[in-house]
Amino acid sequence: MAVLQRVARQSGRQTRALAHATAAAAGHADVSALGVEASPVSTSSLRPMREGDLDAVMAIEQRAYPFPWTRGIFKDCLKAGYPSWVMTEHGLVIGYGLLSIAADEAHVLNICIAPERQGRGLGRHLLRALVKIARNHRVQRVFLEVRPSNPGAIVLYHSEGFNEIGRRPRYYPAKDGREDALVMAIELVADDITAMPPL
Ligand SMILES: CC(C)(COP(=O)(O)OP(=O)(O)OC[C@H]1O[C@@H](n2cnc3c(N)ncnc32)[C@H](O)[C@@H]1OP(=O)(O)O)[C@@H](O)C(=O)NCCC(=O)NCCS
Repeated sequence: MAVLQRVARQSGRQTRALAHATAAAAGHADVSALGVEASPVSTSSLRPMREGDLDAVMAIEQRAYPFPWTRGIFKDCLKAGYPSWVMTEHGLVIGYGLLSIAADEAHVLNICIAPERQGRGLGRHLLRALVKIARNHRVQRVFLEVRPSNPGAIVLYHSEGFNEIGRRPRYYPAKDGREDALVMAIELVADDITAMPPL
């Protein structure tokens, strides 16, 4: 619970995840077992985040967000065992994504590509990997929150099947006060339906 409360308090992102605060931490899986298609950039790959990545992660976080997470939030997520992945290129971290998973719901806590690497399909690849991880944990629904002032991310989420399901007024800190959050979700039921035996 402490981890998600801290995430929400310090970042203004993902208070929805508080509903899942008692969840058992979801374990990491090897990326080769995820079944995610090859990266659009053949030199990039995904692996679980470790504490030793946090200097590189923080360097990206601080450049990519006007209101970045603190190192403590990342540490708490790792400590809690939330699925946390880095995207690397030639051994260097160029992006990362973190999820919380509880029962049949997952939340994308953070998804980020280094500013100079954005716009090359890497964010889409990372989002698909996170959804795949959620699916592998038999999750039925994946949630995320996004600023209305982040149209690039919103277009990406829509194009991957996320729909807007609500709005959280004055959720995020903003330059001129507060900004609402759009809450988006995707249902992951198709595989289960096709796997059901005929009636
Ligand atoms: C959001 C983010 C993860 C997307 O990653 P990315 O690597 O830049 O995105 P991709 O290159 O995979 O683009 C995927 C799609 O997103 C949309 N998109 C991305 N950037 C866009 C922009 N600036 N304007 C409009 N659409 C955009 C496009 O539909 C694109 O698909 P297309 O190239 O086929 O048209 C990345 O921009 C980022 O890290 N931003 C800063 C952190 C952030 O805001 N994270 C999301 C918090 S909710």
